[in-house]
Amino acid sequence: MAQRGGFSNRLGFVLAAAGSAVGLGNIWKFPFEVGQGGGAAFVAMYLLFCFILAFPVMVTEIAIGRKTQLNPAGAYTALGYRKWRGLGVLGILCGTLILSYYNVVAGWAFGYFVEMILGNFDIGTRFGEFTRDITTVGGYAIVFMLFTIFIVSRGVSGGIEKAAKILMPTLIAMIIGLVIYAMTLPNAMKGIEFYLVPDFSEINLKTIRSALGQAFFSLSLGMGAIITYGSYVDKNENIVASAALITLADVGIAFLAGLMLFPFVFSQGLDTNGGAGLIFITLPGVFESLGGHLGVIIGGAFFLLLSFAALTSTVSLLEVPVSYAVDEHRVERKKAVLLVAVIVFIIGIPSLMANGYSKILTNFITYIGAESPTDFMTFVGHIANDTFLPVGGILITMFAAYVWKKENLNRELEAGYPNFKGSFAEKYVDLGIRIICPLVLSILVIMSVLETFFGVELF
Ligand code: TRP
Repeated sequence: MAQRGGFSNRLGFVLAAAGSAVGLGNIWKFPFEVGQGGGAAFVAMYLLFCFILAFPVMVTEIAIGRKTQLNPAGAYTALGYRKWRGLGVLGILCGTLILSYYNVVAGWAFGYFVEMILGNFDIGTRFGEFTRDITTVGGYAIVFMLFTIFIVSRGVSGGIEKAAKILMPTLIAMIIGLVIYAMTLPNAMKGIEFYLVPDFSEINLKTIRSALGQAFFSLSLGMGAIITYGSYVDKNENIVASAALITLADVGIAFLAGLMLFPFVFSQGLDTNGGAGLIFITLPGVFESLGGHLGVIIGGAFFLLLSFAALTSTVSLLEVPVSYAVDEHRVERKKAVLLVAVIVFIIGIPSLMANGYSKILTNFITYIGAESPTDFMTFVGHIANDTFLPVGGILITMFAAYVWKKENLNRELEAGYPNFKGSFAEKYVDLGIRIICPLVLSILVIMSVLETFFGVELF
């Protein structure tokens, strides 16, 4: 076991899993998806999907992880279902794909930390120039990958968890402070209205696909990261309660990030449809408005903490293929980390170039019926987050309900939760894994794939 490294039980699985869940997905991606998805209607769908469709998947992943103490591929074999190994391997590949572009954006966040420290508040208006400059953003991406390599190769226990315990609450406090500041600005209420008053005519298959992908992505579900983390959970820990806590914390932070951002967007007269640049375009102006030193301090601290949140997520994404290589192929941990990191970085190069540097990759594909082209990085997100993660959710819940079977899952859930049998939680999880997740997820995934990639207009 020692070879696997991993997380110290002492500081708790909830903290580590929350560290994986809370990241760029909450603070960078969620607000821009809301902006593109028409506002509050997207928020409502996202919340619904998190609690109804993603939560049972989280419970299942933790249970499989704790039962088997293994990486996603090894886990299915250990339960006696070697044929399902492919699902684990698929998840590992999907995570690798996600990390390839996640690392690029994490590099942007770190680069913005440097720009804030230098007092370059106009970086917001130069976002396009910034991402186009391949040597600079490439350099930041390499630096960020080195941070991740450093932590994962030491085995993930110790330092980073302790740091997360202090830094995450600081980030939350900072966001709350910024929410309060945002409320004092002109036009703030227009932002709040956009964010909180739903216009259900904004719902279509594209927004459904993004909200669903966002729910899985934000909670780190569907590819086995939480199976890996589940392998570090103590037998006397209550899995259902832990899953609820992680979900609430993650959703809560995303919600706060949106509450902070939209008043800023509206008070600066910016476009909610700003895509991947939304927070990077909006926030520097906000920090500048705080004035001189205060702006430098708050702006620098914000992007530093954001980078840190991203780091606890890149660590979890890298840990999955690494634990696979260590457990299944007996590769030495340090070697495995380097090997996987280099592969991930190379796969990420097209994403690095897809934000202005390469015309072909920036205008990579125009979906049938779409008005404007989609860049390569966003395209990878549509495939990996929005399609593969929910497909992973379908298969994991079907596996638990129909192959591994309810009794075995329940036995695992009862450990640490003696009153589980007969409880509301039991019925909720059972209904989720047997019917709701497989059925509803399948319908949503099939419809949204047909619409997005094949231009079929269903409604
Ligand atoms: N959930 C993280 C975020 O919101 C990203 C992430 C980390 C992730 N590990 C994952 C997404 C595993 C999918 C699967 O930033």
